[in-house]
Parts: sequence; structure tokens; C-alpha cells
Amino acid sequence: VTLPEYDNGTKPYLKIYRDYFFLVDFPRDLKSIPPFEVREDDIWISTFPKSGTTWVQEIVYLVMNNADTGKALQTTIERRVPFFEYPIPGFKAISAMPSPRLIKSHLPLSLLPDQMKAKKPKIIYVYRNPKDTVVSYYEFLVKFLTYTKFTGKFEDFCRLFTEGKVLCGPWWKHVTEAWARRHEDNFLLLCYEDLQADLDKNVRIVAEFLGKSLTDEQVARIVKHCSFDSMKNNNTVNYEWFKRKGLARKEPKFLRNGKVGDWKNHLSPDIVKQFDEIVATKLPMDFPIKDTLS
Ligand code: A3P
Repeated sequence: VTLPEYDNGTKPYLKIYRDYFFLVDFPRDLKSIPPFEVREDDIWISTFPKSGTTWVQEIVYLVMNNADTGKALQTTIERRVPFFEYPIPGFKAISAMPSPRLIKSHLPLSLLPDQMKAKKPKIIYVYRNPKDTVVSYYEFLVKFLTYTKFTGKFEDFCRLFTEGKVLCGPWWKHVTEAWARRHEDNFLLLCYEDLQADLDKNVRIVAEFLGKSLTDEQVARIVKHCSFDSMKNNNTVNYEWFKRKGLARKEPKFLRNGKVGDWKNHLSPDIVKQFDEIVATKLPMDFPIKDTLS
């Protein structure tokens, strides 16, 4: 798919694979994913990009490691909870990891390895309201990362999002797949806004789902370690290392704003209307979207 907003629209920018949009060069070969050897005790963190993935990665890591924050601080999240479809550290490294492996993916559930149907590893899916998601996505893709060549305006990015034409889009399809599986035993559906409203409660929900019993002191340690301010200054989760590698620009932050409702500072009334329409028409009737913190 050639889009005028990307790289002047001279080269194809997005490809469509099984009804979802991906970058032409990312992930490189979606067809090569199915042979991946899934383990029953894997724990997958699955999200549409910018929905609180890193936050939940850190929470899950700590829940699985008895709230050992010192251990978490020794290695970047990329290594502790690797990104399945990203070349670093790559399938080979993930295959060699000891169990239980923690794995992050932005692929829609229908594109995760086929073996997951039989092996039934645990999956934690996090979603976020689409208005804050699109703001965070634009700030990350266009402002933070150096390699995205987007020549359009923020409004163009919002339109592409509402047309489903962004990496891992359509957003509504991605989250609806998760919604359909919310009652399955090996599946936990979380939402960014709930984490914001009560992190303590959500850490306990994650622990129970993963079969871990934590003391109140351990839960409190995780909550403190996973606050926005703490994670923003934590060099194992804030992606500052992308700057040293030339992957990100100096000024913008990965942990940028971390609020519910920041979209109000970015979206015009017209765009708000388009997003409300998507929520009203493309999601299941009872799908709860929380775009303001009550
Ligand atoms: P903003 O860009 O709105 O600040 P992902 O990890 O899926 O890429 O999501 C990144 C978003 O989650 C960013 O949103 C980031 O600030 C937010 N986030 C990460 N850690 C957080 C935390 N501890 N508390 C609140 N928001 C957090």
C-alpha cells in the first residue's frame, strides 16, 4: 500500500497480511512465524502498540520474580521480556530462553503462532482507549523514532488510524479479537485506564492469574517501582538506549505523558467525532472504552 503521507508516497509503505496492516519491512516475514516452538508455560503479553505494553511487561516480570526489583534493574526489558516479532533479540534467542518465558507481541491474536491453540500458554492482553493510543502512537513513531519517514501532519496520522492503516491496524479489529477471548481460562484482559485507576488491584489480578501469591509488601514494592515517575527514570524500561543506538531522537521521551485523557490537548473536535464513531460502530456493544479518568 503506497501512502502519500509516508516517504512522499513513492514506495509501498504498508503491506496487508490476513486483514492487518504491517510495515513493508516489519515484521519481515510473517509467514515464518508459525513454526516457532510454543511452550505451555510461556506467558505472552499482547497489545496493540502504545497501550501500556512496557508497563505490563515490567509488572509481569516482577510478579514472576517475587518483586525482585534489584534483579529487574540489571537488564533491559527488551532482554527480560523479548519482543516476539522484532529482530532483537530474535526468535533464536527466545527459543533458547529458560522457562517460563515472558514474551511481548504486538501481533493480533489471530497471527500468533498456531501452536498456541494446542499449548494454551497464558496470554495477558492490554488495551487502551483509541484517542490516547493514537496520540501516543504518533509521538512515538514520528517524533521519538528516527526511522519513520512520515511527511503528513498529525491529523493525517489520525485519519490513517481511523482507516485502520497503521502498523498492526485496524485497532478495532485487534482489540475485538481480544474481547472475544476474555472468558478463556488462559486469557487475561486488562485495560490501561484500570491500571491508572488502581495499580495495586491490577498487580494482584495479574498475580492471581499467574498463580503467584505475593505479600502485601511485595505488591507495594511492585506498585512503587511501576509508577510512571519511577519507570520514566528507570533506564531498563524507558528506552533511552534507543538514543545511543541512533534509533530515537534526543528530546522526546518514551514514557512521555502517561495520562488518561491527554488526547484532549491534541485532537480537534472533528477527529474526536471520528474516533467516537469508531467506538460506536466498530466495537462490540458492551466493549468498555474509558477515555477520561472518572
Ligand atoms: P504516553 O505516550 O501517552 O505517555 P507501550 O509500552 O505499549 O508502547 O505504551 C507506551 C505508553 O504507556 C506511553 O504513553 C507511556 O508513557 C505509557 N506508560 C508506560 N509506563 C507507564 C506507567 N508506569 N504509568 C503510566 N503510563 C505508562
